[in-house]
Amino acid sequence: MSETEQELVDPVEERRALHETESKIAIAGHPLHAMLVTFPIALTMSVLGADLLYWWSGDVFWARAAGWASFGAFVMGVIAGITGTVELLMVRGIRNRSASWTHFILAVMLLSLLGMNWAWRIGNHVEAVLPLGLILSLAAAALTAATGWHGGKLVFDYQIGTKPQK
Ligand code: HEM
Repeated sequence: MSETEQELVDPVEERRALHETESKIAIAGHPLHAMLVTFPIALTMSVLGADLLYWWSGDVFWARAAGWASFGAFVMGVIAGITGTVELLMVRGIRNRSASWTHFILAVMLLSLLGMNWAWRIGNHVEAVLPLGLILSLAAAALTAATGWHGGKLVFDYQIGTKPQK
């Protein structure tokens, strides 16, 4: 091997710990974050659906359903976010990848929006829907899609949170 080739050793390749991205916040190897994110995703989409149904029908049942769903989306989003954050901070291979931090930034923006969408409806769930509640729900649904898609990219493109093959 020539001298130039020896200088070109990839420092990341040299440090095995940087490739260890296996989930630590898991039950029998099944990551808790992946299980929990289904709740904020489904509930955020439900808020948007209930808002649209209220707009279309004028039935206050849908405004109340949207209020409760926005509460659930925020609380479950925070719980899912906590598991993701602990994973991010604890697992070296995860916190060393910039894509993980991009996902974190998207998720924190999403959680702020979910909190706002819920707080705006407290004690005023009917009048809150049109127009601001619906606008917040549309923005939250779009950001949920982006965050969820990016989370999937972490797992399926970068194998973050997965067990390396022996
Ligand atoms: C608040 C901070 C968050 C952090 C630090 C975080 C971090 C992570 C990490 C490290 C992964 C890789 C898999 C794993 O290690 O479990 C992941 C996957 C994922 N995240 Fe997050 N996440 C956060 C919030 C969210 C939220 C609010 C959503 C909801 C849209 C979300 C959606 C996803 C999805 C869909 C996956 C892919 C799961 C799979 O297919 O296995 N994340 N996240």
